[in-house]
Amino acid sequence: MSSIRADFPILARQHRGKNMVYLDSAATTQKPKAVIEAVSDYYLQHNANVHRAAHKLADEATAMLEGARSLAQEFINAPCSQEIVFTRGTTEAINLVANVLHSLVNQDDEILITVLEHHSNIVPWQMLAQRTGAKLVAVNVDSQGNLDLADFHSKLGPRTKIFACSHVSNALGTVNPITQMVSDAANNSTITVVDGAQAALHETIDVQAIGCDFYAFSGHKMYAPTGIGVLFGKLSLLDSLPPWQGGGEMIEHVTLQHSTYQKPPYKFEAGTPNIAGAVGLGAAIKYLGEIPRKQLIQQENELLHRTVNRLQQLPGIRLVGEPTRRSAVISFLLEGSHPHDIGTLLDQQGVAVRTGHHCAMPLMEFLGIPGTIRASFSLYNNDDDTNRLIAAVEKAATFL
Ligand SMILES: Cc1ncc(COP(=O)(O)O)c(C=O)c1O
Repeated sequence: MSSIRADFPILARQHRGKNMVYLDSAATTQKPKAVIEAVSDYYLQHNANVHRAAHKLADEATAMLEGARSLAQEFINAPCSQEIVFTRGTTEAINLVANVLHSLVNQDDEILITVLEHHSNIVPWQMLAQRTGAKLVAVNVDSQGNLDLADFHSKLGPRTKIFACSHVSNALGTVNPITQMVSDAANNSTITVVDGAQAALHETIDVQAIGCDFYAFSGHKMYAPTGIGVLFGKLSLLDSLPPWQGGGEMIEHVTLQHSTYQKPPYKFEAGTPNIAGAVGLGAAIKYLGEIPRKQLIQQENELLHRTVNRLQQLPGIRLVGEPTRRSAVISFLLEGSHPHDIGTLLDQQGVAVRTGHHCAMPLMEFLGIPGTIRASFSLYNNDDDTNRLIAAVEKAATFL
């Protein structure tokens, strides 16, 4: 882990005379030099618009964009690169799906989500339900933060047109049994959409093994720049669904009255794409391929469990969610204090965590709390970070 820390220049930053402890990677990860340099090299050496012009720089930029698409395809084991649509991130990917599925949904249908979802996997479905008259239904969680599978099976029925579910919860760290749920939903002829924002870095993603129709993730949560993400969609669906946004790049032929569209993925990529972002995503994927990722994930899980155990031993700490399988996230409360106050006291000690509802207000309402303190880990965190977190929480408790 010490060698991978050296790859992330920002981790050497000092704050109040000490190294900063970054435990907010679920919000966004820090970036390795390899990604920063790839983006810089793109702008220094290759910058041009893609696909259209007949000149060297445009050819290079196009090859770099399409190279990143192929890397993303391999990263999630998608059968072909036409199934990789570049988006701004998970939010845009899910909005894209919710918009293009409009034509398949009617007022007798149900859209099944879960109480665990991030707002990005709730609000687009609410909007689709409002437009079509379909009913939005949500699977409950139990007190540990696991999805209630009996509730899932009782709610998955003949009317369920779409099932949209996170792979990993950003608020509690729950790893959902996504392959099983997707398989049950697919057997019910339900279209499946997986929000992989928190899974892409910490799990091995294999969309063919999961069997989902759509899988979305964000580059910035896996060491790539902000503003780039991926929507995987099965080619048969992408082929048959209408485009979402209209404009340049997505058309084949345009008259004043009518247009024909490109094949996927371009049909869903109107306008100039985030080329530098895609190059950065490709560099992040390459970087992940070069480090001993599986071993680091294993070490991260061990660190996570050591941290959970130590937090549990502190007086007044209440863990929020104790899921059967946890990934990278610990949510907790300190009795008698507001999460924001603790967040501020930790920040004063150079420990960066996130506090609040974590864009999961329905989950917080279900749990009967306004929010939590969330420490989230990445492959570069180590025992020193945990020691600093524990010491900072202990100190914060003495102030309250
Ligand atoms: C589970 C989950 N889904 C979706 C999102 C939205 O991702 P983005 O803001 O990159 O679009 C997040 C971001 O925190 C998330 O954690």
